[in-house]
Amino acid sequence: MPDSIKRAVDVLKAGGLVAIPTETVYGLAADANNVLAINKIFSSKGRPAGHPLIVHIAQPEPNVANDQQARVTAWQEILCQWSRDVSPEALILADQFWPGPLTMILPKAKNVLSEVTGGQETVGVRSPQHPMAQQLLKAFGGGLAAPSANRFGRISPTTAEHVREEFPDDEVLVLDGGPCDVGIESTIVDLTRLDTHGPVILRPGAITQVMIDQALNRNSDDGHAPKTPSIMSGSNLSAPRVSGSLSAHYAPKTKLVLYDAKDTASIFSELNSSSDLKRFAWVHFPRDSSAGIPSLKNVAKELLLPVESKALARELYALLRQLDTLNVDCIYFEKLPEGVEWDAVRDRLGRASVGSGM
Ligand code: TXA
Ligand code: MG
Repeated sequence: MPDSIKRAVDVLKAGGLVAIPTETVYGLAADANNVLAINKIFSSKGRPAGHPLIVHIAQPEPNVANDQQARVTAWQEILCQWSRDVSPEALILADQFWPGPLTMILPKAKNVLSEVTGGQETVGVRSPQHPMAQQLLKAFGGGLAAPSANRFGRISPTTAEHVREEFPDDEVLVLDGGPCDVGIESTIVDLTRLDTHGPVILRPGAITQVMIDQALNRNSDDGHAPKTPSIMSGSNLSAPRVSGSLSAHYAPKTKLVLYDAKDTASIFSELNSSSDLKRFAWVHFPRDSSAGIPSLKNVAKELLLPVESKALARELYALLRQLDTLNVDCIYFEKLPEGVEWDAVRDRLGRASVGSGM
């Protein structure tokens, strides 16, 4: 076992905090069964008490990998430690998508700390895909509660360097696993209201509604199984508390304005004729032609977006951090396309815009 993992296990056993790489974003991890350690997460992040944490768990031993029944049994045994009622649907999704960027909300087991669940009767569980996270979880031998390793309301970290920027003075051991591959937080699916609501997506991510529907054989066209409903905003009254569902979240300090590409010319003309001397960053997709678009004065930085949604998800948070260092007055950011493959990254960018400039 590498020394860094050994050291991390020691820190966790002693009730300390370790920042861990996952495939989505870096997490700020603590022993999920240690109240004092969990309290440290809240105080370090400045996160209000009552916001539940995701419990991260190790995947089953590789000897079951080629036997589906054995895999499912192994997931069942692992999940029973955290949930009092592990549904067949939860096992199907675990088998299909774990380790991976999916968090399941399940009825909590009795022993799960209320500090972890935010006092709710449910618990969020996920087995992350990053090899270093799995190695640590296995060596630690228990669950790790881990929110994203950023200060409350700010941009999630996708590199070890970002984590150090967030917690420069705190006692956080940072495991460097390189840049995160997915780049935005896991999909959260609520499986606690299956009878009445089906699986409900609380936060969109790399595992899409269509993928979940397919795995559970819930075909929207077959007449009896309703499609997985999707709740993407915090306005739904029956949704449990999900801090990521606050509309202002993941936000840069610089004001970020989303604009429609078709309005570029009129917006630029207006900005150019304003007497207010402001400096802008301009972020947009590559275009075939710039005919008819006046050049914007005072552009301190122009950045081109990747045309593929997965690539933008991977880069988005680093891009927002970079934009925040430019000291511009405002970021003009082209709206993302409408297609479902952009849902998760559009969701994060929308929240970043709402919470920006504060
Ligand atoms: O990809 C991820 O999920 C990352 C990595 C580190 O795993 N973690 C993450 O944690 O994004 P955090 O705390 O920043 O966001 C987790 C979200 C929060 O909005 C929290 O409210 C919600 O999950 N959550 C956790 N447990 C829940 C529960 N029992 N019911 C409803 N929402 C829950
Ligand atoms: Mg977070």
